[in-house]
Amino acid sequence: VAGETAVPDRSAASRDGNQATIEVSVARSDPGAPGTFTIDRSGVRVVLDLLAAIQEHDDPSLGFRYSCRIAACGTCTVRVDGRPVLACQTIVEPGWRSIRIEPLGGLPVVRDLIVDLAPFHERWARIAPAFMPSGPDSGQAPVAPETPERAAIDPNLDCITCGACYAACGMASASSPFMGPAALTRAMVLAADSRDDGGVRRIAAAAGDEGIDGCHGIGACTVVCPKGLDPAGSIRRLRRWRVRPPR
Ligand code: SF4
Ligand code: FES
Repeated sequence: VAGETAVPDRSAASRDGNQATIEVSVARSDPGAPGTFTIDRSGVRVVLDLLAAIQEHDDPSLGFRYSCRIAACGTCTVRVDGRPVLACQTIVEPGWRSIRIEPLGGLPVVRDLIVDLAPFHERWARIAPAFMPSGPDSGQAPVAPETPERAAIDPNLDCITCGACYAACGMASASSPFMGPAALTRAMVLAADSRDDGGVRRIAAAAGDEGIDGCHGIGACTVVCPKGLDPAGSIRRLRRWRVRPPR
C-alpha cells in the first residue's frame, strides 16, 4: 500500500527454515517490564498462543485481550510487525524467527496490548448502526438474492468491530473526528437495505469531512480487514450514492 499508511506484508520477513523457538518482542506500557521473550514453538499455532505462553511462563502481568479465539469477537486485535491483525487468526509461520507485537495505533493504550476502543465505538455509534425497520418487522420480505442490493450488502455485513481498519487508516484516530472505515461501511450496508428506514439520512450523516470526504482513498482498511470486508469500496459507494441515491 502506497501512501501515508504503512501496512507491511510480513510473510517474507524473518523466513529461515523451521525454527524451534521464536523471539517475541512485545510493547509494554511499563518501561521496566520485560519486552523480549524466547518462546518454544511447540503448541504454538497463532499469535495469541505466543501471548498466552508469555503470560503463563514468563510474565503473568502481560496485558492483552481476547475472548472467542475463532475470529468472531474482534477483541484480540494487535499489530504484528506493524500490521493490524487478529491475534487468534494470525498463523505463526514455521520460518519466522522473530516478531514484534504492539497495541493498535490511533487509540489510547490502557495497558500493554490493550487499547481503549471507546473512540472507535463512539464513531460507530454516530451513524446509528442499528437496523431501523421501515414497516412492521414481521411483514418485511427478505432482500432478494442476486440483486444489486444484496451484492452491496453481503460482502460487507460481517464486521466484527475489531478496529483493524481504523488502526490502519492514516486519517482515523482518537484525536481525529473522522468516523473511520468501519462506521462508514456499516452506514453503507444499512443505506443499501431497502427495508431500512434511515437510508437517505444515513447517506447525509456519512457526508462531510468527518465522513466520506475525510477519506483519502489509500485503501489500507480493505487490505487489513481480517473478515474480508471492503471498507474502501463502501466509502466509494457512499460517494456515488450522495449524487445518486440507491433508490
Ligand atoms: S471492517 Fe473489517 S477491519 Fe474494520 S472493524 Fe469491521 S471487521 Fe474489523
Ligand atoms: S479472540 Fe475473538 S476475534 Fe480473536
